[in-house]
Parts: sequence; C-alpha cells; structure tokens
Amino acid sequence: MKIDIVSIFPSYFDVLELSLLGKAAKNKLVDVSVHDLRDATTDVHKSVDDSPFGGGAGMVMSPEPWGTMLDGLLQEDSWLIVPSPAGQLFTQGLATELSGASHLVFACGRYEGIDQRVIDHYSTTHRVLEVSLGDYVLNGGEVAVLAMIEATVRLLPGFMGNPDSLVEESHEKGLLEYPSYTKPRSWRGLEVPEVLLSGNHEAIRAWREEQSQERTQRVRPDLVED
Ligand code: ADE
Repeated sequence: MKIDIVSIFPSYFDVLELSLLGKAAKNKLVDVSVHDLRDATTDVHKSVDDSPFGGGAGMVMSPEPWGTMLDGLLQEDSWLIVPSPAGQLFTQGLATELSGASHLVFACGRYEGIDQRVIDHYSTTHRVLEVSLGDYVLNGGEVAVLAMIEATVRLLPGFMGNPDSLVEESHEKGLLEYPSYTKPRSWRGLEVPEVLLSGNHEAIRAWREEQSQERTQRVRPDLVED
C-alpha cells in the first residue's frame, strides 16, 4: 500500500518511523511519503489560508495549493481521505475498507478546514471520504490521520505476527473485547477468574463471550441497540 500525507506540519508524522509502523515500512508493506502543503504555494509568504466568504471566525485553507499538490499525487486508483469533525465516523469497518485500497492520500486541514470545492472537485474523479475520529474537535487533521493510518496498516496481510490477534479484538465482531489476565494468579488480593485456569476451552470461550456482551451493554449500549 502506498500512503501520501499532505500537511503544513510534516514533522507530526516523524513518529511513523517508530513502533510497528516503522517495521511495516521496512518490510515494504507500506510506503509512506509526507508532503508539505507550503511547497505547493506560489507567493513569498507561502500562505495556505484566507478569511471565509460570508464572514465568521477563523481561516479557511485556500483551494489553489491543495489543487496543485493533489493533482501531483492522485493516481487513477487513489482514495482521498480528508479528516474533518464534520465527516463520517471512523470505525473498524472503515479501517478494514481502507486496508483494501492500493493508494491512500490524506489531506490534513487546519483552521476551519479546507475550501469545500477541493472535496467537491476531486469527488467527481476519485473516491473521496471526509472522516471524523469522533465527536470532538482537534486543532487539525494530523492526529486523526496518525490514528487512521495505525488502525489501517495493522490490518494489512503480513503486518501482525499472529493474525489471530486481529480476530478476537474489540470491534471485530461489533462488541468490545473481554478482559485479559496474565501471571501472577493472585495480585494485591485480586484473583484471576477461575474459569481461565480450568483448561476447559468451551467454558473459557463461553465466559469470554458473556464478558464481551456484558461489557458492551454496560460501556457502549449504542453498539448493541438492535
Ligand atoms: N479535525 C479536527 N477535528 C477532527 C476530528 N474530530 N476528526 C478528524 N479530523 C478532525
């Protein structure tokens, strides 16, 4: 998978070198390039924003540098992902969908967002998704893109040492994951649930299923409404 990221703060993405994502890059599962939007400006001040038509607080990112940058990056099969608190919610399902794409281009907006015509223009030729990390407002799309890339790349075939760990985790079956325990059996007066020490695989499976259901009902009833 090829990933291009456009931002006015390219150094935000230095952390992609760390952790498992760095390993994925070394193993050639992903090829990530980060681009500075200011490289696509033409004025001496390298300005990327302007005041909003219709008035209001804040600044809007101008369409011209975005057009120049994205024209150079987007290929026929590219998906354009625009992080925005006004977008569709990022879910495990969407991460799975993104993991099937061959080329993702992430466009990080700042301020009050990117001029809407950028999204409207590329929607006529490409798959364009405005995606929100959750119902809160960040200062820009960078942190959201880091989260989306991490959730997506770990799903690529060959990324996980043990692919079974993807099957049992939270959100894979629409439920939250059951609680996990390791040694010692007793810690500060708290015991590991007896069933997990029983060696009875069917009983363990049933207990985990029940714990998942109970936890989801208690913490995220919205996930099991129907
Ligand atoms: N940019 C600002 N807030 C955001 C959010 N909640 N999700 C994605 N991008 C954002």
